[in-house]
Formats: sequence, structure tokens, C-alpha cells
Amino acid sequence: MRVAVMASGRGSNFDALLKATRSERTSAEIVVVLSDQRGAAVLEKARGAGVPVEILDPGTPRGPWSPEGIEALRVALQRHRVEAVCLAGFMRIVPPEILREFPSRILNIHPSLLPSFPGLRAQRKALRAGVKVSGCTVHLVDEGVDTGPIVIQAAVPVEPDDTEDSLAARILEQEHRIYPQALFALAENRLRVEGRVVSVLSPEKRS
Ligand code: GRF
Repeated sequence: MRVAVMASGRGSNFDALLKATRSERTSAEIVVVLSDQRGAAVLEKARGAGVPVEILDPGTPRGPWSPEGIEALRVALQRHRVEAVCLAGFMRIVPPEILREFPSRILNIHPSLLPSFPGLRAQRKALRAGVKVSGCTVHLVDEGVDTGPIVIQAAVPVEPDDTEDSLAARILEQEHRIYPQALFALAENRLRVEGRVVSVLSPEKRS
């Protein structure tokens, strides 16, 4: 399964996905990294690992993409014969036109136990809300922000002396663990989606 990673920043989840796909038995292969940020660290990581990169121009500073931006994204995905997409710190909404072309085949990772704390700075929101357990979520992407059906979650206890950074670091370790699991399940056709509920079949049960 040919996978595009879309990312805007540091790229630690890209790294985790790349290492997992290259070292474990899976049909998932990362064939391109797409970024809307020319200077993003993820691009250096990808180039260093021999993964092709492409820069996207959404054509607008935020919000909906321009028609040209959408078309360029579509062309890039076609050029690399992409079959599934992992968003990994991609700071733009995926255009609905592109979502429709990849039904239940676009994943995102978010650093909270959704549906709590969607959007930016989820770890800070969790600390401010005083929750005792936070974590991370891999979900299918729909037209909202961090609203799609949940695939896998991992819980991370909040410690009394946690800062935003210390909590984020412990959550990130779990992100790097569960994101490959979710991608492998997608690649092996082990996700069953019924409305909001996604079942992840164990490897023996796959059809
Ligand atoms: C992660 O915290 C992820 O959950 C969120 O954006 C961050 C990306 O980090 N969506 P990285 O670029 O993968 O290191």
C-alpha cells in the first residue's frame, strides 16, 4: 500500500512510521512526504532517508485551499500512485475533494484522548482542564478538525508536576507506538468502519 505522509513540522511521527514500515512485515510503504512548509524539518529527515518530497502550496494562508492548490495536491498524490495518507503534524485541513478520493484511507494522529481537546495545543488544554489521564488518538480524517472516527488510542497518566512539554514528550512516545499499528491495520484491511465506530481486527481475523 503506497502511503503519503503529509507533515508541516518536526517529523518525529514520520520517522516512527518510516522506521516501522522499513523494519517490520507490512505492505505499507511511504512513497512521498508532502509538506506545505518549505523549511520543515520533516523534509530534511525524508531526504536523508531517500524518501521523495514535494512542497504543497495551498494557495491561501489558512482555511480552504485555492482550486489550484487542490489540483496540485491531487496531481502529486496521483504521480506517486498514493493509496493512503498519514497526516503527521500537517497544519492544514485536507480539502473535502481529496477526502472523497480516499474514503477511510486518511489517518491523523492527535495528542489527546479525542473527543476531548481537539485542535491546537491539546496537551496544554488537558493540563488546564485538570484531567488525570490524557493520551493520543489515531483517527480517520473527516471534514472536521480532529473529529473523525477513532481507530486506536493510548492513555498517558498526567503527573502532578507535568508541564506542557513533559506531558507532550510522554504522549509522543505513545504516538510513535500506535501510529504504525494503525497504519499496518489499514494496510492489512483490518479496519471495519460502521458509522463512528471503527473495529480493528486482529491479524488472524483479517479477510
Ligand atoms: C504530534 O504531537 C501530533 O500528535 C500532532 O502534531 C505533532 C507532530 O509532531 N498532530 P511530529 O512533527 O510528528 O514530531
